[in-house]
Amino acid sequence: KARLAILLSGRGSNMLALLEATKTGVLKDLAEVVVVFSNKPDAPGLAFAAERGCPVAALPSQGRKREAFDAEAAALLQRYQPDLVVLAGYMRILSPAFIQPFAGRILNIHPADTQQHQGLHAYEWAFENHLPETKITVHLVDEGLDTGPILAQQTVDLRGADTLEEVERRGLAVEHYLYAETLAELIKGNQTVMSSAGEASRVPK
Ligand code: GAR
Repeated sequence: KARLAILLSGRGSNMLALLEATKTGVLKDLAEVVVVFSNKPDAPGLAFAAERGCPVAALPSQGRKREAFDAEAAALLQRYQPDLVVLAGYMRILSPAFIQPFAGRILNIHPADTQQHQGLHAYEWAFENHLPETKITVHLVDEGLDTGPILAQQTVDLRGADTLEEVERRGLAVEHYLYAETLAELIKGNQTVMSSAGEASRVPK
C-alpha cells in the first residue's frame, strides 16, 4: 500500500474524504494514511483525524522562518516514510527545503484551474466574477505557486449558484471525489501528467 502523509491547515474535509476512501472507497487496498500533519496545532481537521484513530502531528509555523520551519517539517514527516505527500488545504507556500526531500511526490488540490487562478480564495474569485464554471485541479507541487504539472481536472457547473456557499458546496463535492480518484490512478500507475503545453507524459514511478 502507498503510504500517504496528508497535510492541512484548517477544516479537513478533503482529508476526511481521502481517509474514508482508504477505508471503504477507491483507495482501499491501494493506500493508507500514515500521518495527518498540520502547521496549525488547533486546526479542526487535525482533531477530526485523531478522533478517527489516525496518527497526527503538528508543528506551529507561526513566527518561524520559512526555510527553517520547512526543513523541520520535512524531517518530521520523513520519520513516517511517506510515499506521497498530499496537501489538502495546507495553506503554505513550500520552500525547496520541504520540496527537495519529496520531489515529484507532493500533490495538491486547487479549487480552480491553476492556469487561470493561483493562491487563495479561488471560490470567491469564481463567484465574484460570475463564472459559469470552474475547474478543480489536482497537480504535482513544484517550487512555484500552483505551477506544477496537472494530473487531473474536472469542471464544476456554477450556473445558478447564487451564493458563495453554493459555489463551495458544488466545488467541494468534486474535490472530494477527484482527489481520491486521481491518487488511485497515480498509485496504479495509470496516471499521465498534462504539461502546461498540453502534452501528456507518464509520471515517473
Ligand atoms: C479546499 O477547497 C482546497 O481546495 C483549498 O482549501 C480548501 C480546504 O478545505 N486549497 C487551496 O485553496 C490551496 N490553494 P478542507 O480543509 O475542507 O479540505
